[in-house]
Formats: sequence, structure tokens, C-alpha cells
Amino acid sequence: MRRKIIAGNWKMNMTPGEAVKLVEELKPLVKNEEADVVFCVPAIDIVPVVEAVKGSNIEVGAENMYFEEKGAYTGEISPAMLVDAGVKYVILGHSERRDYFHETSEDVNKKMKKALEHGLVPIMCCGESLTQREQGITLDWIRQQVKVGYQDIAAADAAKTVIAYEPIWAIGTGKTATTEQAEEVCKAIRDCIAEIYDEATAEAIRIQYGGSVNAGNAAELFAQPDIDGGLVGGASLKAEFGKVVCYK
Ligand code: PGA
Repeated sequence: MRRKIIAGNWKMNMTPGEAVKLVEELKPLVKNEEADVVFCVPAIDIVPVVEAVKGSNIEVGAENMYFEEKGAYTGEISPAMLVDAGVKYVILGHSERRDYFHETSEDVNKKMKKALEHGLVPIMCCGESLTQREQGITLDWIRQQVKVGYQDIAAADAAKTVIAYEPIWAIGTGKTATTEQAEEVCKAIRDCIAEIYDEATAEAIRIQYGGSVNAGNAAELFAQPDIDGGLVGGASLKAEFGKVVCYK
């Protein structure tokens, strides 16, 4: 049985002061012994949030990371910085990074390798646009993102990672994929991992659904055989996140 993983993605929200207040508000609401609970927060919030979650079941994640060790990369954050600050997870290749900051699947692959080298757990995002869905190329596109993202990553490392399937048209729009659509793609991702590696790796890897997850749809989505939790944007910034985490 794969353990569920429910992660909040705060995006570019919450000042350090606001972040600590939100953690204090959510701490008692997100206790679920059957799931890993992760708050992925802006880089500047990491240090105070790591401090604020001490003694709770909440783990801290970053929203991005660079693939070099150190040096002249103004504005970037290295994996060693994240690890030293107490970060366990890192979202890589979110569609907003791919769209607004031109990250390619090749960049994501470099980041995946570097994160794994440092013992961070990548949450690798993939997802199709509305046009791609309408063109009927969703599964081809997702398979490509997964295959490039996992290029030259060993099975033992891949098994530790998390994949978030996030249809771009469902992010922040209030338009959730239907349970069937979400399960179909998450299953295709698992099949793709089995193809790249083997059944054992495909069984071990955790696949989240993301895109307008909320208190009302979490239970049904997370009950699907290939959906192992969620990556939650908007609803992770309020008390409602407690209901998402404690979905049953
Ligand atoms: P949303 O965002 O829950 O606000 O749709 C999800 C995400 O982008 O990770």
C-alpha cells in the first residue's frame, strides 16, 4: 500500500510573517497519520516555516531549485541550501515554471538528478494544456514529460520520487478534472514508469493529482487506485486545507 502524500503549493503567496501565522492556524487541522503532509513554500519563508512546524507532522518543501551546486547564478537557490535549511521535498517543473520561466523537461531532468543526489524528494509536475487535451494528445504529451524528466535516473531513485499530474486547464480555475480523467492520466503515468523501469518501481512511486483540489472533491479523487494524494494550490492557503488532508 502506498502512503498518501498531500502537499500544499503556496506559490508566490505569504510573507514570512504571514507564513508563520498560517502554519500556526493549520497545524492542528492537518493531522492525518495515514498521509505525509508537506507545505511547499516560497524560498524566503522556508527558514521561519521549518521552525514553525517543529514538533508537528508537517514536512517542508521548496517550490523550485537550481541544478548547479553553487556559484554565479544570481537569484537561484541550491539543493545544499534547501537541505541545510531543513527542506525534504522540492516541486520541480510546475507548469507555471515551464510557462512563465521557460523551463524545459531537460532542465527538469537536471534538477531531478541534482535533488536526488542531495537526498531531496522531487515532486515532478506534468500536465497538458486545454489545447493539447482537445487535440487528443494528452497521454503522448505526459509520457514525453515523464520520459524526459526521468532520463538516466536509476530505478531505486525513481521509486522515491513523487509525480504530480496537473492539467494546466484545471490549475487555479476551479475546474477540476473529472475523477475518470484524473485516474486515466495517473494510471498512464504509472504504466509509463513500469515501461521505463519495472512493475516494482511503478508500484512504489507516488502520483498526485493537482488542479483545483478542494475539501469537496479530495475524497473521491484520492480514492482512485492510481491517485496517491494531491498537490494543492489555492485551498492550501486556508483552513480548508485541513479538510483536504483529513479527507476521510
Ligand atoms: P490549484 O493549484 O489547487 O490552485 O488549482 C494547484 C497547483 O498549481 O499546484
